Amino acid sequence: MRIGIIGAMDEEIALYKEGMDLVRETRKAGITYYEGRWEDKEVVLCKCGVGKVNASVCTQILVDAFQVGAVIFTGVAGALHPELEIGDIVVAMDCQHHDMDVTALGFPRGVIPFTDVSIFRADQELIDAAVKASEQVAEGRTMTGRILSGDQFIASRDKVRELHETMAGMCTEMEGAAVAQVCVMNEIPFVVIRSMSDKADGSAHVNFPEFTKLASQRSYEIVKNMLAHL
Ligand code: ADE
Repeated sequence: MRIGIIGAMDEEIALYKEGMDLVRETRKAGITYYEGRWEDKEVVLCKCGVGKVNASVCTQILVDAFQVGAVIFTGVAGALHPELEIGDIVVAMDCQHHDMDVTALGFPRGVIPFTDVSIFRADQELIDAAVKASEQVAEGRTMTGRILSGDQFIASRDKVRELHETMAGMCTEMEGAAVAQVCVMNEIPFVVIRSMSDKADGSAHVNFPEFTKLASQRSYEIVKNMLAHL
């Protein structure tokens, strides 16, 4: 089975690019797909770019053009759960769009009108493998739960409280739910693994690049460990 590995930014996929045995490079819709072998698995690595449209297009191309049988999204996120520290890991149990808001027409927050599913469940086998790998890399620093995605960089304590309390989010980022939705629509198993780069409270600008590098390193080690055991 070929595994699609997606990150949103250069920093998030740089280590994978160095680690894999590259076979072919293909460009589609402005995204470069790196096909090759890594940890004895067939993988297709790509940087989707920031935001949910980029993530959706990228995931659908992975399914249609590269026939991946599973998708792992890896990268950084802003923490919502008060006990999460920078560098800690969240493995998605499920993902939801926090900016899907049709409350004006009576739909609950986050619910996509006229569809059966608005909370996208990750694959249990991939969750278990990710949690196991994460515990080996960052012992005692892994949580599983809901990842909330939106086309917004969250930078306010009030918003953090709101997203945690009203939508039960553990962390927030800008791609996971889009990847998750496309995978569910195509019946492809997925998991999202995020390492905390900031606390989504407005202080990210101070050290975002530094923590992003650290957090990306951690995510990379987890996926490497995970693949070795899949
Ligand atoms: N990715 C990393 N930190 C984030 C934040 N605070 N909001 C949205 N996406 C993020």
